[in-house]
Amino acid sequence: MALTLRPLHPLFVAAATGIDLTAPLEAEAVAELVAALDRYAVLVLPGQDLTDAQQIAFSERLGILETTVKAFRPGHKARIDLHLSDVSNLDERNQVLAADDRRRMNGLGNRLWHTDSSFKAIPARYSLLSARAIPGAGGETEFADLRAAWDALDPAMRGRIEGLVAEHSLLHSRATIGFTDFAAEERERLQPVPQRLVRTHPGSGRKTLYLASHAGSIRGMALPEARMLLLDLMEHATQRRFVYSHTWRLHDLVIWDDRCTLHRARPYDMTVPRDMRRTTVSDGVSSLEQAA
Ligand code: OGA
Ligand code: MN
Repeated sequence: MALTLRPLHPLFVAAATGIDLTAPLEAEAVAELVAALDRYAVLVLPGQDLTDAQQIAFSERLGILETTVKAFRPGHKARIDLHLSDVSNLDERNQVLAADDRRRMNGLGNRLWHTDSSFKAIPARYSLLSARAIPGAGGETEFADLRAAWDALDPAMRGRIEGLVAEHSLLHSRATIGFTDFAAEERERLQPVPQRLVRTHPGSGRKTLYLASHAGSIRGMALPEARMLLLDLMEHATQRRFVYSHTWRLHDLVIWDDRCTLHRARPYDMTVPRDMRRTTVSDGVSSLEQAA
């Protein structure tokens, strides 16, 4: 296989062509993709017209898949397989969600800078987002490079934050936009989990910040101090020089490394369908169990 990489951003994003994800891949092809993901943190693979089964089968080549936390909700009705996160604005009958629908309100939280599943004790390694229907305008996804953001911190700040442990919860990030409609069972299963604030990215050996809007406190630090530190780091990490904005084309598959990037959705006209489906590869261990 000849995987061709063409940088889309000077730091951390490339387009990857010369690979067909609808067909079974050789082990070397998977290894080549993982190496590209270690070098870049975001890969855009255009023209991958995947079925759900093909997306799941390919994603499983990269590791163990997560199931969606939406299943924690009593009475949850899924439009698609539990190994796919429904990132669309559609209901189980494929109709656009009403403006006040709880699922739409919850989904608005994706517009906050975040990394996937940092609110799970064992967070995500990779996310794979497939564009099945896109609006005519808007709905971009932005990514930020947390390894470059770490590199650009001054030594005093690096010394201050290395070794710190943040607490992440989906309840926290949703509360910041005023969304609090969670059932008791969900609240129980979404209690804060600890994650290192600074990690070493295993595949590249580079240090990286590990931030998300889910982070609401830092162990051993007064709350106002912790919140301000997290806000300052987020502001630093999302300067335009660290950010790539992806304008979707139908059948793009974008794969990103959740250990060293942030992302967020951008607004669009939510009366038109945007059908995006995500598979998520688990990292297998807590960030606390990995080398700092
Ligand atoms: C996600 C996500 C952003 C978007 O799928 O994890 O945050 O633009 N998506 O839909
Ligand atoms: Mn996300």
